[in-house]
Amino acid sequence: MLGKPEPVIVQVEINSENDKAQALAERLSLPLIEASSPWLANSIRLRYQDAVLYALSVDPAGAEMAVKADFQQVLSTRRRQQAQGELLIKAVQGRQRQPLFILDATAGMAVDSMVMAAMGHQVLALEQSSVVYEVVQDGLQRAAHAGISLLPDLHQAEAVAWLTINAEQMFDVIYLDPMFAESSKRALPRKNMQLLRRLTEAQTGSETLLSLAKTRARLRVVVKRPLKGGSLAGSPDYSIKGQRIRFDIYQSN
Ligand SMILES: C[S@@+](CC[C@H](N)C(=O)[O-])C[C@H]1O[C@@H](n2cnc3c(N)ncnc32)[C@H](O)[C@@H]1O
Repeated sequence: MLGKPEPVIVQVEINSENDKAQALAERLSLPLIEASSPWLANSIRLRYQDAVLYALSVDPAGAEMAVKADFQQVLSTRRRQQAQGELLIKAVQGRQRQPLFILDATAGMAVDSMVMAAMGHQVLALEQSSVVYEVVQDGLQRAAHAGISLLPDLHQAEAVAWLTINAEQMFDVIYLDPMFAESSKRALPRKNMQLLRRLTEAQTGSETLLSLAKTRARLRVVVKRPLKGGSLAGSPDYSIKGQRIRFDIYQSN
């Protein structure tokens, strides 16, 4: 029988950007370590280097894998690979042409949030993991300094709790992209997805989130799913299919 996954240990490296590292360790109540200290099993390190916050892990061969949020890259990649972005935009916008108020309740690395914000929509993004939040917020600050103005507004919060506290807040569209179950057939997921998986292994309750979201979206709830995966709950009104993923759309009445 498979045991419970080992909890991930997160540490912050002390380095030349000491003040930032110390403030981060304090904010997240994480231990500070020397960059030269040996890697612990099942650990992730946060490192500031050249004013960029990286989350690092080591692969089984001992090679470091570094993840950062780079929204300039998201924008330029999107220009090259419009298809996936267009599918998302088609799913969230429907026939509407005016800017929408969108809640991305499962922001992750905020790539989808960025694509929606770049289209001129007002995007409030929620991420439950404080580590992922810090890495993405660091990228958003660098993007703002680089003059990118259409950015999502990111908050660190669990979405069901946030929606419950902000009980009057309605959105035009609510977007959900909970973590897919790992498919044994696929090649290793991209390194930012591997990191997200390790940091969010305890994720549960996507069905509760979907049913709450349906009561708070004026137009629709959009859920990203693997192309052949089941729906998150109930039957969507329709789906928009891509090569590997699809968007399930639940219309509001
Ligand atoms: C598959 S990733 C999302 C990827 C994202 N669409 C992107 O473009 O980068 C799922 C993320 O949702 C977050 N998440 C899952 N359930 C959540 C919840 N109830 N509240 C807030 N965040 C949640 C996880 O922590 C994880 O980072």
